[in-house]
Amino acid sequence: MEVNTNFEIRIRKSEVSRIDSLDFNNIPFGKVFSDHMFSADYYDGEWRDCEILPFSKISISPSMTALHYGQAIFEGMKAFKDMEGNPQLFRPEQNFTRFNNSAHRMAMPELPEEIFISAIKEIVSLDRDWIPSQPNCALYIRPFMFATDEFIGIKPSDNFKFMIFTCPVGIYYPKPVKILVSEQYVRAFPGGAGFAKAAGNYGATLLPIKEARTDGYDQILWMEGGKFKFIQESGTMNAFFMIDDVLITPELDGTILDGVTRNSVIQLMKDKGVTVEERPISIDEVVDAYHTRKLQDAFGTGTAVTIAHFESIGYKGEEIMLPHCHRFLSRNQVQ
Ligand code: COI
Repeated sequence: MEVNTNFEIRIRKSEVSRIDSLDFNNIPFGKVFSDHMFSADYYDGEWRDCEILPFSKISISPSMTALHYGQAIFEGMKAFKDMEGNPQLFRPEQNFTRFNNSAHRMAMPELPEEIFISAIKEIVSLDRDWIPSQPNCALYIRPFMFATDEFIGIKPSDNFKFMIFTCPVGIYYPKPVKILVSEQYVRAFPGGAGFAKAAGNYGATLLPIKEARTDGYDQILWMEGGKFKFIQESGTMNAFFMIDDVLITPELDGTILDGVTRNSVIQLMKDKGVTVEERPISIDEVVDAYHTRKLQDAFGTGTAVTIAHFESIGYKGEEIMLPHCHRFLSRNQVQ
């Protein structure tokens, strides 16, 4: 069979822009969507029908397998405007690589780089007026893929849809976050799919987060599932701890997301001469560092959250307060 390498994108522009409905000085996170979306379909073993069209609802069958078995993955990335007002993407090749790693783990077809990158460039360029220039704002880009077989039974789908939409966003966490160490629920195990940006990884965390919220926390700090000792990540973020002038973050052991912001923070801190360690870090090490006054900072990183300081970490009934939590990063701004 001949393989299709011609991924020409058909463009159908929206007749009227909805941009006037957005208050750029008051942008909520993830609620307003720009004018266009991208769509491509995978069938008969190939990606086809690349199209940019007006953002709209899509029609699906109730028997679509993604709805039942969770064969669905996504990415999150951002576009900004440079000094001349031109759109700039932040390290899109890293999202592309991670997207295909997620696709592989979820038995989904990989996407050619040409489709992923050129579709993003095209849609961002078309909706460039939606990129906010206000501080801490950006155009959030959401590429995603899901299984579209209409079928009851457990097997990888033969058909998939890849889509991208964008939305102008402001701050995800408007203030430092209160974190609860998980001692009951587990997000990921070795050999599982914790590293993949798979929809189900997020769905399974919603109940624990809901319960934590009723106790006044914003997020959970996930522990490994054996003894609940070693830190994994914090839902929307990779976790970092500054202890005695060393920046420590859990290593990429297959249970946590290979964060693009994580990666950037590690590199920028190394460039500034800070010692960075990617290694197992236990919650006891953090608690000890707190009691011996060596814990200087704790924060999460992610595309949506950028850098979110931890205000406090709740563990076994104790609250680790980080009163000086802005100290280290504000001296060494990475953004
Ligand atoms: C991101 O940081 O982009 C995420 O995907 C986290 C969250 C909004 C689900």
